[in-house]
Amino acid sequence: MEIRDKVAVVTGSSSGIGYNTAKVLLEKGAVVYGLSRRETEISHPAFRWIETDLSFSGDIDAAFASIRQGHPDISLLVNNAGIGMFGDIETITPEMWQRAVDVNLTAAFLCSRKVVPLMKKRQFGMIVNIASIAGKHGFKGGSAYCATKFGLAGLSESLMEELRPFGIRVSCIFPGSVDTAFFSGTSMHPAKLMKPEDVARIIVNAIETPDGILPDQIVIRPT
Ligand SMILES: NC(=O)c1ccc[n+]([C@@H]2O[C@H](COP(=O)([O-])OP(=O)(O)OC[C@H]3O[C@@H](n4cnc5c(N)ncnc54)[C@H](OP(=O)(O)O)[C@@H]3O)[C@@H](O)[C@H]2O)c1
Repeated sequence: MEIRDKVAVVTGSSSGIGYNTAKVLLEKGAVVYGLSRRETEISHPAFRWIETDLSFSGDIDAAFASIRQGHPDISLLVNNAGIGMFGDIETITPEMWQRAVDVNLTAAFLCSRKVVPLMKKRQFGMIVNIASIAGKHGFKGGSAYCATKFGLAGLSESLMEELRPFGIRVSCIFPGSVDTAFFSGTSMHPAKLMKPEDVARIIVNAIETPDGILPDQIVIRPT
């Protein structure tokens, strides 16, 4: 996709991978809407932050209604927002499980439902889902997080097939460990980390592939 002048929505724009992805998209000339609970501190004339708690469907409805008022055509959705949720099954409460499902999986489903009708009308668009290596391989203490990321991978693959005939590309990115705030407050301390700005470049490279090419899955790991 040629990014210049396209309207993009990036969820989880306030930090880490989403923040850096929003910045690269702006550099490339997109109009970017960032959705997060904390303010996204990007000062750029083509950027607008909308305070959104993606675990509330009402917030998602309001955010997309506001975007559509300004820009009825959304060409790109990056479902990036996510939370870590790690621990043995006895320590993961049903509330923690639900929270991980709401933010990591249901929000991507709800946001995709908002953009697909617009993209179908124009037979054009792209949805990029930020899963994780944890969406391909389970690990000890990862039951809740891995379940949400395997779920997101399944949502991606199904949508990829469903939307291909309409000229809409769906890609799923599976990063290994990235140096962001993601691990703070968790029991996980990975030895090797990628830089979020490098991961953002790879996401944007996938978006920039020619419209006739569908990079459906991209796995990236630290060396
Ligand atoms: N870091 C890694 O090693 C790694 C590896 C593979 C995949 N990932 C995935 O990459 C994505 C981004 O993570 P990151 O590493 O960049 O971590 P991060 O710096 O903690 O960023 C997470 C983003 O998600 C947003 N978010 C969380 N809960 C939200 C909610 N209820 N409503 C709205 N936004 C919410 C946060 O914004 P607010 O707090 O402002 O709401 C923040 O902008 C996640 O899906 C994560 O699972 C990360």
